[in-house]
Amino acid sequence: MTTTVRADQLGDAELQRHFDERIAHDQRIEPRDWMPEGYRKTLVRQIAQHAHSEIIGMQPEGNWLTRTPSLRRKAILLAKVQDEAGHGLYLYSAAETLGVDRAELTEKLIDRRQKYSSIFNYPTLTFADIGVIGWLVDGAAICNQVPLCRSSFGPYARAMVRICKEESFHQRQGYELLMTMMRGTAEQREMVQEATDRWWWPSLMMFGPPDADSPNTQQSMAWRIKRHTNDELRQKFVDMTVPQAEALGVTLPDPELRWNAERGHYDFGEPDWSELKRVIGGGGPCNEQRLARRRAAHEEGQWVREAAAAHAAKQAAREEVAR
Ligand SMILES: [Fe+2]
Ligand SMILES: [Fe+2]
Repeated sequence: MTTTVRADQLGDAELQRHFDERIAHDQRIEPRDWMPEGYRKTLVRQIAQHAHSEIIGMQPEGNWLTRTPSLRRKAILLAKVQDEAGHGLYLYSAAETLGVDRAELTEKLIDRRQKYSSIFNYPTLTFADIGVIGWLVDGAAICNQVPLCRSSFGPYARAMVRICKEESFHQRQGYELLMTMMRGTAEQREMVQEATDRWWWPSLMMFGPPDADSPNTQQSMAWRIKRHTNDELRQKFVDMTVPQAEALGVTLPDPELRWNAERGHYDFGEPDWSELKRVIGGGGPCNEQRLARRRAAHEEGQWVREAAAAHAAKQAAREEVAR
């Protein structure tokens, strides 16, 4: 017995060494490869949270689908919201390669055992919000997600390549919408400014808590799941967005925002981290509504899932007879 245990332990050490080497050489880890349990769990948590965010993220924009100012805007918004559904599906599929299933993840989301991005708990009050979400929220998502195309886990990295291409369309459609409104009436310009004021700080919070309060970051970076810290990504987003705001003609609501020539970056104010904690903890303006809507959609979709399963079983039985 003793010999067996020792051999197993040696086996694990060997597997761990092989895993570490692949990570060090920037090689991808694939679903059938051995991986430490912590790596698998971290990925399941991160990919599930990401998938849930894509799905819940359809709600704030879906709110305006029946009230777009033109057919053209409706077609664009519909395409964008459908893309987000697709992103959710690619990501649930990536999570399934780690041995969990989509139904289980959805249950965890609607039972509040797994989270989604805090940004989707804010309301969309005017049509300018649709433009600002594309510009700032999809813009922040791009900053977060482009480095994930090089994430060490193969299925996640590959899903991100396709998602990022679509995210850049989302950002452009938002910016183009805002440009159009800024060329319009004084009232339209005011709407854009007001929406920017509401979404700016929540967008900065999309990168998560500051590095000092982000206990998992170091391990995720060592495993090359993440490539940059929250604060690095937040800085990158600010540097990218300030010139865009200038071109648009809106003011970002931060009196501390200024170029720092020494650092070669913009300095900016501190987001209200207590607000982030409150919104993540369920106290945002729309948390209840978002989860209730998701739960209802899941329950109302039960017959579709049953019908699809019955159809698949029938097909399989027919193929069996044909053989
Ligand atoms: Fe997306
Ligand atoms: Fe998007």
